[in-house]
Amino acid sequence: MTEVHVLLLPGDGIGPEVLAAARRVLEVVGNQRGYRFVFAEDLVGGAAIDAYGTPLRDETIARALQSDAVFLGAVGGPKWDHLPKATRPEAGLLRLRKELGLFANLRPVRVFDALADATPLKPEVVRGVDLIVVRELTGGLYFGQPSELRREPSGRWAVDTLPYREEEIARIVDLAFQLARQRRHKVTSVDKANVLNTSALWREVATEIGARYPDVTLEHQLVDSCAMRLVARPRDFDVLVMENLFGDILSDEAAVLAGSLGMLPSASLHGRPPERPGSPVRRFGLYEPVHGSAPDIAGKGIANPIGAILSAAMLLRWSLDDEPAAAAVEQAVDVALASGARTADLARPGETPLGTEAFTGRVLEELDRLLG
Ligand code: IPM
Ligand code: MG
Repeated sequence: MTEVHVLLLPGDGIGPEVLAAARRVLEVVGNQRGYRFVFAEDLVGGAAIDAYGTPLRDETIARALQSDAVFLGAVGGPKWDHLPKATRPEAGLLRLRKELGLFANLRPVRVFDALADATPLKPEVVRGVDLIVVRELTGGLYFGQPSELRREPSGRWAVDTLPYREEEIARIVDLAFQLARQRRHKVTSVDKANVLNTSALWREVATEIGARYPDVTLEHQLVDSCAMRLVARPRDFDVLVMENLFGDILSDEAAVLAGSLGMLPSASLHGRPPERPGSPVRRFGLYEPVHGSAPDIAGKGIANPIGAILSAAMLLRWSLDDEPAAAAVEQAVDVALASGARTADLARPGETPLGTEAFTGRVLEELDRLLG
């Protein structure tokens, strides 16, 4: 039996509800494929502010480093919106990413056939979309110094800084090329090289890395026109790689293709094995759905668990190297959707939506069948 230690950080809002779904999925996979998932739990975000007065405790970081993978729900909510930026729930998530060194954020966007008409876009535009946004996660505007807001007698004034070192660009672009090799051999590097120095550097480094992958096509695209092409001709894309803020923005835009923000999973990786002695895992990672805490529907049991369930598939793929199990989880979601199961965010007028637990139950039935 392979023991896999997972630290669960449910966070705020619908975080705990969708995390429960992901946990059930991992338990079913564990039974069928010989893993014993050992779950520990801790607080992050607003929940940690309420209990401990900080969105992330040092000991939570230490516990994360002693596990094989971290699974996060969501952070934030109106209750904590009045707090200064440095002590808000979001600051906890950003510090976690930074301190764990998770520089590579993978956000795959796949349009399930059954949902091709669930988007405001034309079905023929989105059908068959299968792309992945590779977002740099520990640099750029999110962490650059100086970053401050000053209230001076002469007026208010604020600054943020966008720095990138060549190694930071090289490691994320290289990962994008490796991914493209396992997919359709195309990388789109997104920048604003007509205006920003960091983007000019990004383009130079991406071109140098690209030369080492002659079997992969590299195209450079400016972020503004990329935003347009993403909804006009999304099937053009395979792997997209970009800096932190561009990735934040374009990945939410890409969620429209999938039918709902509730659909998208993510993995944040650093490429090294975990520090836990004897860990069976090759690559430490933090897994979380892309969506937020959705305070308007929290506690109602109606949240879409697909982003969390597909994040569990990513854990199996990236941390456990278990491609068959990952593919089975994805197929189980596909089959459940094809059979007409819908959560409230996906249901059309006249369709009866399933709650989070009932939808997860449908996925688990399929999963049991596929792995059994
Ligand atoms: C995301 C979120 C976070 C980000 C917030 C919650 C800090 O929007 O994961 O995309 O901006 O990275
Ligand atoms: Mg975001």
